[in-house]
Amino acid sequence: MTDHAPDSSPPSPTGIPVWDLPTRLFHWLLVLLILDAWVSYKFGDPMMRWHQWNGLAILTLILYRFFWGLWGSSTARFRQFAAGPGAVIRYLLGVLRGEKRHWLGHNPAGGWSVLALLTVIGAQGVFGLFATDDVLASGPLNFLVSDPTASRLTRLHQLGFWAILALVGGHLSAVFFYLLVQNENLIRPMITGCKPPEQVPPGERAVFRSPWLALATLLLAALLAWLGISAWKWKG
Ligand code: HEM
Ligand code: HEM
Repeated sequence: MTDHAPDSSPPSPTGIPVWDLPTRLFHWLLVLLILDAWVSYKFGDPMMRWHQWNGLAILTLILYRFFWGLWGSSTARFRQFAAGPGAVIRYLLGVLRGEKRHWLGHNPAGGWSVLALLTVIGAQGVFGLFATDDVLASGPLNFLVSDPTASRLTRLHQLGFWAILALVGGHLSAVFFYLLVQNENLIRPMITGCKPPEQVPPGERAVFRSPWLALATLLLAALLAWLGISAWKWKG
């Protein structure tokens, strides 16, 4: 199934648009917030308020990205890049054989690594809601669970950090493998939004949704995150 459109326009001199502005902003904001999760833990206030606000911002972003994966631009959609196992194996065998194929959006293996990153980061945020340092800092929903459950979720929150580190390590290795071995710079398109025409499969073009829809989606995600946490607080 493809949401991409056939090519009907001549390539622009700046390249072929592949990533919409919301997806690029999402990516670089997520990078900053993940770095800040660590900085705020290491250097933040004892009650970890900074760390918790930062974590809530990450949860909101992940929720936004989930929705954008359902109704966003074609290259951002899950059904576009969640390839079947056959496609992933064929892709990986092709890479081993030294083939250099180009993709409009994420390649079949990259798509799954993106899903893994989003899932693990989302789970990390959810564990954080229940985590506690047993002294001053407690996530906003910690009061809902028993002490042993809170300890287990805190342990998962501590392990989650290493899982994110491992996935980001794999992510960066893949990006630099493309740069150095496949001679394809994927980083520039994540900044400018465009790929050179020769690095796009012939005839394929992305279909973009309005950035205003992305903004409305972000507001929806923020509202749901706030309502979700507040509802549990009122219940408790
Ligand atoms: C999603 C991104 C997040 C990352 C990468 C992250 C990372 C971390 C790290 C590295 C620690 C220190 C763990 C240790 O003691 O070794 C920590 C602790 C903590 N985090 Fe997060 N966190 C995130 C989200 C959240 C959220 C959303 C909340 C709550 C709103 C939260 C609340 C806490 C609390 C209460 C602790 C103290 C628990 C402890 O001392 O182990 N975190 N976090
Ligand atoms: C905390 C660090 C990082 C995280 C959590 C992260 C996460 C992600 C995610 C979730 C995506 C998918 C974007 C989407 O479809 O919404 C992505 C794509 C991408 N990221 Fe990162 N990223 C990180 C750091 C970086 C850095 C430092 C670079 C550049 C050196 C980079 C380069 C890219 C590129 C080029 C893509 C697009 C890959 C493709 O063409 O398929 N990322 N990243």
